[in-house]
Amino acid sequence: MTIETPQVRIVEVGPRDGLQNIRAKVPTPTKLELIQRLRDAGLRTIELTSVVSPRAIPQLADCREVLGHSSVKTLLQNNQAGLRFPVLVPNIKGLDIALQHGVKEVAVFISATEGFSKANINCSVEQGIARATEVAGLARKAGVAVRGYVSCIFADPYDGPTPEAAVWRCVKSLLDAGCYEISLGDTLGVGSPSNVNILLKYLTSHGIPLSKLAGHFHDTYGQAVANVWEAYTCGLRVFDSSVGGLGGCPFAPGAKGNVATEDLVYMFHNAGINTGVDLPKLVETGEWISQQLSQSNSSRAGKALSIKTKPQTSAPTTSKANSKQITPLKWTLISSPEGLLIHRNGPTLKITLNRPKNGNALTSSMLATLTSTIQTANTDPLTTRIVFTAVGRFFCTGMDLGKGSSPVAQGSSASDAQFTRLTALYEALDTSPKVTIAAMNGPAFGGGVGFAFACDIRLCVSGPACTLSEVKLGLAAATISKYVVREWGVPFAREAMLTARSVSAEELLTRGLVSGVSGSIGELEKELDALLARMKLCSPGGSRMSKELVRLAWAHGGKEEQAKGIKEVFDEMMKADGEGAVGLREFQMKRKMDWDKFVLEAKPKL
Ligand code: HMG
Ligand code: MG
Repeated sequence: MTIETPQVRIVEVGPRDGLQNIRAKVPTPTKLELIQRLRDAGLRTIELTSVVSPRAIPQLADCREVLGHSSVKTLLQNNQAGLRFPVLVPNIKGLDIALQHGVKEVAVFISATEGFSKANINCSVEQGIARATEVAGLARKAGVAVRGYVSCIFADPYDGPTPEAAVWRCVKSLLDAGCYEISLGDTLGVGSPSNVNILLKYLTSHGIPLSKLAGHFHDTYGQAVANVWEAYTCGLRVFDSSVGGLGGCPFAPGAKGNVATEDLVYMFHNAGINTGVDLPKLVETGEWISQQLSQSNSSRAGKALSIKTKPQTSAPTTSKANSKQITPLKWTLISSPEGLLIHRNGPTLKITLNRPKNGNALTSSMLATLTSTIQTANTDPLTTRIVFTAVGRFFCTGMDLGKGSSPVAQGSSASDAQFTRLTALYEALDTSPKVTIAAMNGPAFGGGVGFAFACDIRLCVSGPACTLSEVKLGLAAATISKYVVREWGVPFAREAMLTARSVSAEELLTRGLVSGVSGSIGELEKELDALLARMKLCSPGGSRMSKELVRLAWAHGGKEEQAKGIKEVFDEMMKADGEGAVGLREFQMKRKMDWDKFVLEAKPKL
């Protein structure tokens, strides 16, 4: 899957700012694993540690071990553009140690206020600027990039509110010293969006370009996410954050951690702003480090998403059967009509779109075969569920738009035929009494989105997932609107149709529109296996009746048809010779029913 260039840059400061205030010694291997996990989650700038007085910050006294470890060396030697691994240094001693370890970027730090400067680096603001200027000059001579921090941009724990001019003076001095970017630190976490707006306007109107600034917001008063958003709308594009919302400074008593990286990524992805970060992996990392530190996860989005994704990301642990490792399912190839592969495993039919060169766009022949295969499966008593997935980078790019093959703009008879083909496919899917699952291996566009949303359940891989791209081509999401609007809801469907924007898997997950997001195709396959293993415990008749109840609710909610339909389902489920009777008998015998086995008493037809 291609990763789009991030539209905002996130500077992950968890291994430094996040850990520096923790009293109990965090083992060095835990710090190394944290760095690795953050990198694996797609973070491209990670502040590794600080080389400061071990008396001032005992937690990071192992900075040499961290920087000297082979895994960190490998990161430092990686010359891939866009990767940055800064180390915080307060003085020449810190710079020398960083240089000895092959560090290619350092961060210098000063305070805009006297009280915090004295407490944090034991000098005045003036002396702090002079020291940072000297360190930055030497670092640049050594070919090392320098980032600058200005602390206490809104207030100081000892001196009170900070004048904007004091912040400006520090920012200007650090830029003059050769820092490529200045991170504005609300060390106490007291600022709110109006303060952010006023300060940024002050700085820009006094000659500081926004492109040279970054936001570093602590979350003491719960304003950090709002501050980031305000700064973003003012034009800032670089933000510091800490996984799990870890952090704080021993010299800013009571100050909370940095804004949580998960909360930032969640917010940006929801706004369609790409960060390049794999949110599910980041959430896992936030949960993991919180457990390692025996503290609760301070990321609200991280906590919420980890609860939501747990059943999909790990085998459920509610029963002995489920807690076992899931063995990969073996699929038997049944047939391979043009553009498709049809497999079976027990009562599960798997239909794979196999036209990767064209992004699995649906040709007329694929539409016809898909429809007839689904229609046959719909009446086959030996088929319980149908899975749809695809080969290649895309799940399905919708209608065929190829030169010479596309039915678009070919006149009314071609249009009528295509209308019939498309509606037949979506109706066969939508009215299927079987459980239909879309395992989306990649993004879907237009009709491909409708395909996925005419199914009952969706799993997908992280990143761009759905684009209703029709309006870009002068078209509209006509046949699929019936399913997309029903499932997405009117406002979201309208906005996605009118903007033709790429909606990420993470956004779909948070909107409750997909059941799980996997980090890779391999993980998606495992998720699918796990889901199908769980679904053996669900009876086909019970599932069919449940689908009917859901349909009655959205189609006839509160009306006579619903009441009548519910009564019919009720009568069916209470029958003496129905699946309910079988399920009840097994329940009373304290046995778990394997419904796949029950269905497969005869051989499958397809
Ligand atoms: P000092 O006591 O004035 O100066 O400390 P010193 O030079 O006499 O050093 C004291 C001891 O530290 C000596 O050891 C030095 O060798 C040692 P001793 O001889 O007594 O055994 N030392 C060092 N050891 C390792 N690496 C070094 C180093 N430098 C000195 N680089 C100093 C002045 C600046 C060194 C000290 O105050 C210090 O290390 N302060 C750092 C405090 C700190 O790390 N605070 C947190 C980071 S800032 C922050 O969190 C804010 C930020 O996130 C943005 C925001 O939120 O606003 C960036
Ligand atoms: Mg900080």
